[in-house]
Amino acid sequence: MIMKAIIFKEVGEPENLVLAEVPVPSIEGHEVLVQVKAISINPVDAYVRKNKPYLDAVYQVTGAEQHIILGWDVAGIVTGTGKNVTKFKAGDEVFGNFKFIGQANAYAEYVAAPENQLVLKPANVSFEAAAGATMAAMTAWQSIVNSGKVKKGDKVVVHGASGGVGHYAVQFAKHFGAYVIGVSSGENRDFVLGLGADEFIDYKTQVFEELVTDADIVHDTVWSEDDKHIERSLKALKPGGTLLSLIVYPEPELIERALREKNVKVLRVNVTPNETYEQNMEYVAGLLSSGEVKTHISHVFPLEEMYKAHALIQSKNTVGKIIVMP
Ligand SMILES: NC(=O)c1ccc[n+]([C@@H]2O[C@H](COP(=O)([O-])OP(=O)(O)OC[C@H]3O[C@@H](n4cnc5c(N)ncnc54)[C@H](OP(=O)(O)O)[C@@H]3O)[C@@H](O)[C@H]2O)c1
Repeated sequence: MIMKAIIFKEVGEPENLVLAEVPVPSIEGHEVLVQVKAISINPVDAYVRKNKPYLDAVYQVTGAEQHIILGWDVAGIVTGTGKNVTKFKAGDEVFGNFKFIGQANAYAEYVAAPENQLVLKPANVSFEAAAGATMAAMTAWQSIVNSGKVKKGDKVVVHGASGGVGHYAVQFAKHFGAYVIGVSSGENRDFVLGLGADEFIDYKTQVFEELVTDADIVHDTVWSEDDKHIERSLKALKPGGTLLSLIVYPEPELIERALREKNVKVLRVNVTPNETYEQNMEYVAGLLSSGEVKTHISHVFPLEEMYKAHALIQSKNTVGKIIVMP
């Protein structure tokens, strides 16, 4: 069987992503075949598309590939099950972030995904909203909930609060009863406050570490060549607080100094299908179904316009999620 997919043969610009016809994947015993209804796009998709060493590491490219397909986040309908599958049957509506950070081939009409990296999509949640709540939602969850151990009354600073990860981080922190300060550019003030944030800081006109010096948790997603932004986030924390670094790998010297001088834990967060992934995804499915957490979708593109989705995500100014529909 043949399907449509977005392939690229050469690292580079978004326009190198082109529509092609390729074979429908075969499934292993523990995998399901999913007819993809919605795909979500993340900044890492663009990094891999434009950086050969990263692409080679993720895909273990040998040079013999007929085509390379990117993507890790889908929502869709199960159409086939491997012989060892017990969790799903044909017709089930599912969503998940799968095989990250390996070769998942999600930019396609069909994907082969391990059953333990998918969960049931609630009937009242759209495929687009479910697809959005995969890598970005799990990153926010693993940062704020698993690593940050957020609890009622905590003061939490969320950088990038209007973005894919940040807009879930704000909503999860609120769900657990935290006082949330969202940081983004001024044009996203109303959006971030609308997510439930208690305060807003505009990083273009305000200095967050002068305004906040007693946070329990800082969720830091801001790129910097060095530890400069992490050092600023440290200043916003109170003694005993936790700094969650999602983009910069903090130097060991900084980690040791933060603990010694301020009793602050500095943790690097890497989204991963950990032992609580399914449980966390099911919890998120419940929050989506009840309406307590919403996926904000800023753009939807058809599959053949994947290059437009990549051009937008690499701008680093995404509001909520970008979705592509096969
Ligand atoms: N460690 C992990 O496992 C992991 C997983 C997923 C993502 N990430 C990383 O986390 C980051 C966020 O991901 P995402 O999907 O949320 O990206 P995104 O959707 O592109 O959002 C980026 C957000 O950052 C905001 N921003 C830009 N500069 C800022 C600054 N100086 N201070 C505060 N906010 C700023 C933007 O707001 P404005 O538009 O208002 O400027 C935007 O809301 C990316 O770097 C991504 O690679 C890490």
